[in-house]
Amino acid sequence: MQPKTTTLDDLVSLAKRRGFVFQTSSIYGGLANSYDYGPLGTELLRNIKNLWWQKFIHQRPDMVGLDSQILLHPKTWMASGHTTAFNDPLVEDLTTQKRYRADHLIEEWQEKNNQTTDTSPEDMSVKAMDEYIIQHKIVSPDGNPVSAVKVFNLLFETSIGVVTGEKSKIYLRGETAQGIFSNFANISNSTRMQLPFGVGQIGKSFRNEVTTGQFVFRTLEFEQAEIEYFFDPETTDWQTLMESWKTAMWEFVTKDLHIAAKNLRWRKHTDTERSHYSMDTYDLDYKFPFGWKELWGIAYRTDYDLKQHQEYSGETLQATTTDNTRRFTPHVIEPAVGINRLFMMVLAEHYWEDTERSRTVLCLPRQLSPHSVAVFPLARNKPELIAAAKIIYQELLGKIPTTWDDRSNIGKRYLYQDEIGTPFCITIDYQTLEDNTVTIRNRDTTEQTRIGSNQILEYLAKKLDLAEEAVLG
Ligand code: GAP
Repeated sequence: MQPKTTTLDDLVSLAKRRGFVFQTSSIYGGLANSYDYGPLGTELLRNIKNLWWQKFIHQRPDMVGLDSQILLHPKTWMASGHTTAFNDPLVEDLTTQKRYRADHLIEEWQEKNNQTTDTSPEDMSVKAMDEYIIQHKIVSPDGNPVSAVKVFNLLFETSIGVVTGEKSKIYLRGETAQGIFSNFANISNSTRMQLPFGVGQIGKSFRNEVTTGQFVFRTLEFEQAEIEYFFDPETTDWQTLMESWKTAMWEFVTKDLHIAAKNLRWRKHTDTERSHYSMDTYDLDYKFPFGWKELWGIAYRTDYDLKQHQEYSGETLQATTTDNTRRFTPHVIEPAVGINRLFMMVLAEHYWEDTERSRTVLCLPRQLSPHSVAVFPLARNKPELIAAAKIIYQELLGKIPTTWDDRSNIGKRYLYQDEIGTPFCITIDYQTLEDNTVTIRNRDTTEQTRIGSNQILEYLAKKLDLAEEAVLG
């Protein structure tokens, strides 16, 4: 029998049922394109971010981190070009006044009508999209005619202080990257870093996105993990550098997040599609339940941003060669990913309906599971079992992410832990009281092994591939 294909509904349902993701402000009817991360989702997000930070900042001698503000000087966004060029094409349903992305409507229409050989909307100008919609009589998802295509700026505007009007206008950052560019001189002057070197940052970004039904894939508020890698174009070949970053991205996704290569592909941006600041861009796409979509982008931003900030600020944002003979504006390669997209990919990839054993399993890699191990007393009304189980639970708690469960029956507890991705469950039963052994159950195989309770840490350290000294003390 063919394994069942995971649908978006499967993921949304599991995420809500088990407290990974909730709709934001659900008690007020929700807020469009906004989600909260529940107790388990928070752990999963944190684990993804920690892994990214470990891999790209801590394990590399040529990288440092930064935590810049969400609110930056408004000139930042004029210099970067976002106030003028950071736009999406929108149409309005003429009956309901609901707004839609024109490129998304065209893409869906092309897929539905098998017109996938037509020009992709990503390669169409606003005028071309307009003409295409008219020519093919494309309507809104509610079946109504739509307005002409208009461009809509994605930056979120807000204001500061007591002054109103243009003077107080400020933006929530549309990308974390600009905080890195505007700190280039601070970082160069305060650290021992020499080119080529990179600066990584994880933080919230905001975009006034108009989209429907893509869960956490595209939201108004999201978390980015961006790297700006600065180099001297005379001594470093940008294409070679870009290739090495593409390899690092690919390895992170396939080796650290355990994503199958068949669900990944590289896609080069066309000239029309590429952002205003980029000379070359690739997307690493993942096969999400609603099709191939961008997971992670990598762009060659040249010296565009630093030059723009020099012009708008009057400050020098340059570097000098080690022999002091040449001053130049560094160029940049930028790998930029959304943590929430990594999160959604991880859920989609590791969701497994085990029809043979009638259970749903999240086969998360061990570094990502919210809990590494769950501890159960076989029965909840036996104080001696609970006492013995609590001793083991307490011992594990400080060393490995551990959870406790004594609700309902043992079968239901296993099913629950399988659904939230806990790789091991330890049960303390009547035999434990006699010979101090416990059972350890493996999430993926459901196999149970009996071991001495004094061997638990060693067993888990091996199976979870943890540094033994950290666990065993
Ligand atoms: N600094 C470059 C930059 O921001 P981008 O392609 O617009 O480039 C980078 O964004 C990554 O951020 C994307 O590949 C995606 O993973 C994530 N991202 C962008 N917009 C998003 C949104 N509205 N919701 C969730 N993630 C988003």
